[in-house]
Amino acid sequence: MVEQKKDRARHKHETHQIWENRSDYLGGHNRGSIIGVIVYFVVLVSKTPFYYHISFKLTNIDYKSDFGKPYSQEYINLNEKIMTLMNKTFQASKLRRQYVLSHTAKVRESNGKTMVDVVLKFKSCYNNNAAKFRDRARDILLQKLTGDTGSLCIDSSSFKLSDIDMEPAENLLNMCCGRRKMKSPGNKVTGGLDSVEGEWPWQASLQQNNIHRCGATLISNNWLLTAAHCFVNAKDPQEWSVTFGFLLSEPKQKRSVKNIIVHEKYEYPGHDHDIAIINLSKPVLYETNIRKVCLPEENYNFPPDSDVVVTGWGSLKSDGSSPNILQKGIMKIIDNATCNEKEVYDGSITNGMLCAGFLKGRIDACQGDSGGPLVSSDSRGIWFLVGIVSWGDECGLPNKPGVYTRVTYYRNWITSKTGI
Ligand code: ARG
Repeated sequence: MVEQKKDRARHKHETHQIWENRSDYLGGHNRGSIIGVIVYFVVLVSKTPFYYHISFKLTNIDYKSDFGKPYSQEYINLNEKIMTLMNKTFQASKLRRQYVLSHTAKVRESNGKTMVDVVLKFKSCYNNNAAKFRDRARDILLQKLTGDTGSLCIDSSSFKLSDIDMEPAENLLNMCCGRRKMKSPGNKVTGGLDSVEGEWPWQASLQQNNIHRCGATLISNNWLLTAAHCFVNAKDPQEWSVTFGFLLSEPKQKRSVKNIIVHEKYEYPGHDHDIAIINLSKPVLYETNIRKVCLPEENYNFPPDSDVVVTGWGSLKSDGSSPNILQKGIMKIIDNATCNEKEVYDGSITNGMLCAGFLKGRIDACQGDSGGPLVSSDSRGIWFLVGIVSWGDECGLPNKPGVYTRVTYYRNWITSKTGI
């Protein structure tokens, strides 16, 4: 990613100094007593989170195929209703102080009717009596589900509740695509282009022998999209791994690669069909900061001039080194006709490509960003994958915007390989 390098360097220096002063302050015998107080508070006040998995059948809602798409309005409305019911149930109960949240993890079909799986999260200091707590939660739910459940008709004989560990529970809680936990991220362009943790949870680093080579985008717990040209000289999956998390130096999860599928028609050094799919050897566990992006339908149209964001650990100038913090570039879609004008790319942009950036230059992806995501959020704040960083004439030059693989154009190809 290129842009505004000087400001960033100065800022880094300042933060560093503040922390140095602070460790002076904590030095000497002060340190022991401060740590003591912290330990005391952590032990006394900390609440351990724990989770339940519940499922039940809805008798008045016929199953619709849209329930399989977590970004569909059908799914969102149903989740909203279930959440409201759960919130009401627990907020009016003895467990109101321990109840944290609920989330519809899955909506599935059972004899034409609709079955839902919901994860409930609680926090409590009294973690020594788990069985009793579970019984209480079950009683509260059963009582509610056999009584007034508003617009949802629930078959209470289908109701099940079981314990679920933190990791699989968080995995279910974070399964939805294109959503991020963080409230309002610093989407201001001034002051540098560093991302914050959790801002782009689908971004992965594709590494060859543990060295960052390309970006990649998580589209399910075991499939990622990237660029075909990342594998020109290295097709052996064994050389490759994928890391997750916004700092290159401290990955949250790491996976080896089982299989690489390069588009059959990609031919180096051409730029057409610059798309590849990576299959992980073992699925990632979704967590707050590791989630998938939503894939747009084939006929979805991202209009020219709409706002998009490209992210990556690519170099900050042509021939520069990789930053540690994930960078973002906020830009606009440029229509193919404009991008094909003589002074721009003079007819090289084909239907499977899309341009983004600014004709005046400056903000652009760069070496090392390749394969990474260009995303756009819809009016509800759900993020969709628009493009894959592919090529460009150097970085950030006027009339030479970034060129991306157009995801909608390859939507059916993606399904044919992954089933997604
Ligand atoms: N092809 C380059 C890579 O392998 C980056 C392409 C993006 N260039 C650009 N100016 N947008 O990382």
